[in-house]
Amino acid sequence: MTAGVHQSLLVAKRLQGKVALITGGASGIGASTARLFVKHGAKVLTADLQDDLGHCLCKEIEGNSNESISYVHCDVTSESDVKNAVDLAVSRYGKLDIMFNNAGISGNMETRAVATDTDNFKRVLDVNLVGGFLGAKHATRVMIPAKKGCILFTASIASLVCLGVPHAYTTSKHAVVGLAKSLAVELGEYGIRVNSISPHTVVTPLLQKSFGISDKGKGEEMISATATLKGTILEAKDIAQAALFLASDEAKYLSGVNLPVDGGYSFNNQMWKNGLEFCQC
Ligand SMILES: NC(=O)c1ccc[n+]([C@@H]2O[C@H](COP(=O)([O-])OP(=O)(O)OC[C@H]3O[C@@H](n4cnc5c(N)ncnc54)[C@H](O)[C@@H]3O)[C@@H](O)[C@H]2O)c1
Repeated sequence: MTAGVHQSLLVAKRLQGKVALITGGASGIGASTARLFVKHGAKVLTADLQDDLGHCLCKEIEGNSNESISYVHCDVTSESDVKNAVDLAVSRYGKLDIMFNNAGISGNMETRAVATDTDNFKRVLDVNLVGGFLGAKHATRVMIPAKKGCILFTASIASLVCLGVPHAYTTSKHAVVGLAKSLAVELGEYGIRVNSISPHTVVTPLLQKSFGISDKGKGEEMISATATLKGTILEAKDIAQAALFLASDEAKYLSGVNLPVDGGYSFNNQMWKNGLEFCQC
């Protein structure tokens, strides 16, 4: 037996036998999570608007077989699309254990309330909040009779601190956390766990487009310079690891949690210390 084969046998498949649906699964955090979930034995249906990217990811992971991963076009703001995606996961893979509501947009980057386009504000809430609600609603349709399941949301560090990003984004991510907690209370009775993940900044297409960062390396340098935790860079695969943990049986008693993956950024506020230093000058 080669060392590589031996090593792969030692890696426990933490989602063996589970079925997951991941929205926003064609790119960034969703795509990274799809890769990791398949590696850990799950059957994954990715749902997104970017059909070419979605199909490409499936091909990259396992060719044309559709056995462990497949893709469906789904606009999370359309209830019939979301219903169809949930039904497809069940008809193709037999059940639904994990619903990862991850699709999201930043919307226009205007940060002043007075200049905010109201339709854009509503659009951000529609995708980030209502889209996640629809995912949860249709997942529970199949999880309640099964008396088990795991619902995850990608919230954001913007659910914990105000970063100077648009009001709609901050509002939507706070609301997602509230929704996850509210669902956790309702669905606990049926053995369904509901949690959210709040990442700090990751250089994904969403971030690059929102902040006009064309060079990934430069973006990572900027994030690293403002991070609390030094010597490492937050990547999409780190958020995927958090999702893997929350989706696995290792987190069997975790529900209603908003897990920050932010290297301590959200509770780091040095303004008081800076003020004291200013007074002592
Ligand atoms: N990148 C970051 O720094 C960061 C930080 C915190 C939270 N997040 C959140 O992570 C999630 C994933 O974002 P990402 O950074 O991987 O960006 P991304 O742009 O790489 O991925 C988001 C995906 O969502 C899809 N999507 C957008 N609108 C959709 C809709 N209506 N229906 C279906 N799919 C739709 C996009 O096509 C895209 O593939 C989002 O909810 C985002 O708010 C990102």
